[in-house]
Amino acid sequence: MNVQNTVKLETATKASADWWRGGVIYQIYPRSFQDSNGDGIGDLRGITQRLGYIASLGVDAIWISPFFKSPMKDFGYDVSDYRDVDPMFGSMEDFKDLLDQAHSVGLKVMIDLVLSHTSDQHPWFKESRSSRENAKSDWYVWADPKPDGTPPNNWLSIFGGSAWQWDSRRLQYYLHNFLTSQPDLNFHCPDVQDALLDVARFWLDLGVDGFRLDTINFYFHDKQLRDNPSLPMNQRNASIAPMVNPYNHQDHLYSKSQPENIAFLERLRALTDEYEGRACLGEVGDAQRGLEIMGEYTSGDRRMHMCYAFEFLEKRALTAAYAKQVFYQLEEKAGDAWPCWAFSNHDVQRHASRWGLDDAAIRQHAVLMMCLRGSACLYQGEELGLPEADVPFDHLQDPYGIEFWPEFKGRDGCRTPMVWAAQDEQSGFSTGAPWLPVSQAQAEQAVDRLEQEPNSTLHHYRRAIALRHAHSALMSGHQREMAQSGSILTFLREDNAQQIFCAFNLGSDSAEITLPDGNWQVIGEELGGVAGAGTITLGAAQFCLMARVQG
Ligand code: BGC
Ligand code: MG
Repeated sequence: MNVQNTVKLETATKASADWWRGGVIYQIYPRSFQDSNGDGIGDLRGITQRLGYIASLGVDAIWISPFFKSPMKDFGYDVSDYRDVDPMFGSMEDFKDLLDQAHSVGLKVMIDLVLSHTSDQHPWFKESRSSRENAKSDWYVWADPKPDGTPPNNWLSIFGGSAWQWDSRRLQYYLHNFLTSQPDLNFHCPDVQDALLDVARFWLDLGVDGFRLDTINFYFHDKQLRDNPSLPMNQRNASIAPMVNPYNHQDHLYSKSQPENIAFLERLRALTDEYEGRACLGEVGDAQRGLEIMGEYTSGDRRMHMCYAFEFLEKRALTAAYAKQVFYQLEEKAGDAWPCWAFSNHDVQRHASRWGLDDAAIRQHAVLMMCLRGSACLYQGEELGLPEADVPFDHLQDPYGIEFWPEFKGRDGCRTPMVWAAQDEQSGFSTGAPWLPVSQAQAEQAVDRLEQEPNSTLHHYRRAIALRHAHSALMSGHQREMAQSGSILTFLREDNAQQIFCAFNLGSDSAEITLPDGNWQVIGEELGGVAGAGTITLGAAQFCLMARVQG
């Protein structure tokens, strides 16, 4: 092979190893995606049956929320066996089949590793709590009570109450950042790190393409267990917990985001790098320092490939001013940080409802997502423009919602079954009674219906995803000159091959914008993009995209 061909091959291999950079990831919440056996709960075979649909969207990868053995107190985010599939979701054979079939239709598969905590039913915790002397006695975070019997410090659980739970066997408290049945692993213990890296290796050996890593900044806690300071009212924000949650009253300086985490993330990355083309997406939940941590965790190529950001999962709308602020902050913290944006997921109200978007705005946001620098996660049903489902209190499943009802209704409204068939009683999700009721309002926008309408939101999403893939600058180019004027956000994406100008009117009134001089060609007209030159008017929810004509 001549030198030129070698270089070509190397470039191609690198490009495919970099699939995650700017890639579009489709998030599947397995309980609610597709049930294959009529028990009302989605499962792995159900996902396999729908791979053709997912591939037809043009996405690069799927991320499957946890399907491991679990007592399901937090619906799988409480793992009792990291190396097996919960029978509710199927078997290991089913997973291998899913993986093969996904690969055969060109989809990467990312699994959701919940390493920060386990279920209290995990054998590690059972052993650890059995005495103060056993071999795993320091695998979890154990601490003596204060002399008056109260918890060792003021740390709070996101799901309500103290982050400490009393254990009558050891006569000590253990730490849990979420439910009391989700004890926190002690990452200061080297054996714990090794055991978790073995888990990652197990799945890499099996052939998964990457990990979505749950709550990665919660891995370590302050060894001295110092109290978190309180946070002044004007610095509190609801990016990771609703305002009614007193978790927001603290600055979580000591209970998470500890400096020791970096070395662990580097170990995890080194392990991942032993395999080709795998990617790590770390979820960073920190209402005060989220972007800073994202910078720390993703800059260079020795830590995470990308971090999952909460900035656009908030109640606060994605205005031009807010978008600019986020990107400026990110640039300031770490210019080479690589974010992964999401507007919706299994933890927040669907963005169509959360931001009160009409059809035009839903479509515009889809295009914006595909133009912003970073990778993108779409949550099942987002491509249909689904609103949040209304789940009455007596149907609630989520312990978080039950705790903070009615001010915060929990996460069931975004977890109702996927709507496949408008006319079917259970919308094509299951032949049995589903674990959460199907939303009739959502069923109006079922897949079978939108497939028939050439101009539906579903087809619009396909076109938006295709637009990104057709332009290397949108996938992985730099982002420059982000500017805001009133409700208009403008920026450039560029790489060696092309330069793309993007303008979005994110407000509800028309606004004028002067397009840049030079020779530009409008792109994205198939998405409703506005064409023009000089000074043009962008109506509410309109946008204009142009590629610079070379030469
Ligand atoms: C997941 C949640 C889960 C929590 C605890 C997250 O951020 O996305 O669904 O409840 O971690 O594991
Ligand atoms: Mg099932």
